[in-house]
Amino acid sequence: MTYILGIESSCDETAAAIVTDVIADEEKSLPADRILSNVIYSQIEEHKKFQGVLPEVAARAHLDKIDVVVKKALTDAGLELADLDAIAATCGPGLIGGVIVGATFAKTMAMALKIPFIAINHIEAHAISIRLVERIEFPYLLILMSGGHCVSCVVHDINKFEIIGKTLDDSAGESFDKVSKLLGFGYPGGPIIEEKSKLGNADNFQLPRPLCNNHSMDFSFSGLKTAVLLASENCKNQQDKLDLCASFQKTVAEIFAYKLNQALKFCENISINGVVIAGGVAANSCIKNSLLQVCNEHGMKFYFPPKELCTDNGAMIAWLGIEKLQRNQVDKLDFPIAPCWPLGINMFYVQKFY
Ligand code: KG4
Ligand code: ZN
Repeated sequence: MTYILGIESSCDETAAAIVTDVIADEEKSLPADRILSNVIYSQIEEHKKFQGVLPEVAARAHLDKIDVVVKKALTDAGLELADLDAIAATCGPGLIGGVIVGATFAKTMAMALKIPFIAINHIEAHAISIRLVERIEFPYLLILMSGGHCVSCVVHDINKFEIIGKTLDDSAGESFDKVSKLLGFGYPGGPIIEEKSKLGNADNFQLPRPLCNNHSMDFSFSGLKTAVLLASENCKNQQDKLDLCASFQKTVAEIFAYKLNQALKFCENISINGVVIAGGVAANSCIKNSLLQVCNEHGMKFYFPPKELCTDNGAMIAWLGIEKLQRNQVDKLDFPIAPCWPLGINMFYVQKFY
């Protein structure tokens, strides 16, 4: 049995988790029972007054909390430092100050404990996280929707991503955050928009669906965001704003549904084992329902992680650590901090970049 500590610090969550590779009773247990602890310290309070994540504030908050969060992950799992077999940490992409804090903490622990260090690409961890909670084999079709990225791809294996489409400008999460800010609803945008949308009429505003009238597999959200800004100038009262909120969310859900249809056509000759969504925006029920409907129409299985594993967490970092360890992929302690590490690019190239 292997125990891996995963550390995540690339944005506004300081997180640590311990995950194991086997469960005692395969028949009675769920895959997610491999998560022995999952501690997340959210920096929402620190960033609220700025209505967004301030990188320097984030880095300092990570530094403040990292030891507390790691200690709690060990205590919750009922383990000692000596029980750990390896330590995995996000080395990119992300806000450089935070990544330095988490990765350096992890490398130092690995050196002191004389156990392997595993460098994790944060986006790849989102992409693989479904395998921690569901029994799904490669290949699968993934739509990754987070605060920093929006990409659709076929996942053939860890580090083997066939990119089908990506955003040409903003990520979906960024559009949620900016729309929330411009409507005066604040930070964190995604969950606030989801809540406010429950009180609005989603059919009240007709908003554009960029890149949904051609064969492009790519995404674009910046025009939609501008359309919301222009429409907001005509909002006369709070109800109008709530209607705009709901119309925006519905439009994003329709864009993803359109893009999933296209991606499934692309996959017609690949025997994929299902459709997976991941990243913070995958926590959104309206988007999930819209994609579930598309999957049902195609007779395709649909997988999504539970909410707490959609947004940033240490468990997905530890899990990719386990998948890498199983393939003997461990890293040296001089692995670079890589704030712009693209998905599917291996360490050799990353080192050439830095
Ligand atoms: O994956 P994540 O936690 O961090 C990144 O890797 O970027 O994603 C954060 C993003 C934010 O933009 C946030 O607004 C969005 O996910 N998000 C949501 C919801 N919860 C978080 N967007 C829509 N609906 C939600 N319920
Ligand atoms: Zn993330």
